[in-house]
Amino acid sequence: MHTDGPDPALPIAVFDSGVGGLTVLHECLVSLPEEDYVYLGDDARFPYGARSAEDLSECVRRNTAFLLDRGAKLIVIACNSAAGAGIEPARELAAAGGVEVVAVIEPEAEIAAAITESGRVGVLATPATVAGGAYLRALGRQHRELTVTQVAAPDLAAIIQRGFPFSEAVVETVRSYCAPLKRARVDTVILGCTHYPLVRPMLQRFLGREVRLVTAGHAVAAGAQRILEAEGLESSNEKEGEYRFICTGDAAAFRELGTRFLQMPLGEVERVELAD
Ligand code: DGL
Repeated sequence: MHTDGPDPALPIAVFDSGVGGLTVLHECLVSLPEEDYVYLGDDARFPYGARSAEDLSECVRRNTAFLLDRGAKLIVIACNSAAGAGIEPARELAAAGGVEVVAVIEPEAEIAAAITESGRVGVLATPATVAGGAYLRALGRQHRELTVTQVAAPDLAAIIQRGFPFSEAVVETVRSYCAPLKRARVDTVILGCTHYPLVRPMLQRFLGREVRLVTAGHAVAAGAQRILEAEGLESSNEKEGEYRFICTGDAAAFRELGTRFLQMPLGEVERVELAD
């Protein structure tokens, strides 16, 4: 019986700047179906990928504080731009209640280093993530000689968050982001923004079928599972748990887009104001 930590009946809380984190939530819903979930999309502040590191740290702190206040047994940072700015503000807040934090970036770096044959790894990410260098540091910790090519894709998350109107211009934009990765002859590309798996087929087509694309969802869900088991925090639900959604922007738009991406009904989306 767990005594000091959070109540195992509380939900797992996941956050992103918008709908991208649904690609991580999706894996959690599949891997840990008995758990309850609450998802926060801070879409009023989208795009995180254009924000400064200082601003992003504040987003991490604010979102974590809000979710802990609502009640959460685990915090999942499903946004690379936010996690890239550092997850310490979340860890500090969560530690007070014995709550652990799981985040993207490190898991993808581990997978990429394990599967690349040539050692040439690409990272496609938002400008904030590329500028912050979190993937370079994470890949540098992998005990392997790697050549890393980073490409910032300033418009890609926004294209996806808008519901991706697939015009020729969009296709050319995405192709131009893939070009430096092709030139660098990478055999593995980290999709370093949780929005990007939503356009995975297009990226795979432009990069070539032999290139391996690495996403965070599965590894993050596995990390969450390890923590819940180690801490005795698994849900006692006997069937599928519940999930609910909160956003800071347009709830109807979030619901419409989110339903398409998750391919499950989102139900009512609650709108909240998170004060700066
Ligand atoms: N999904 C977020 C990430 O993983 C980024 C999108 C944004 O720019 O807000 O980086």
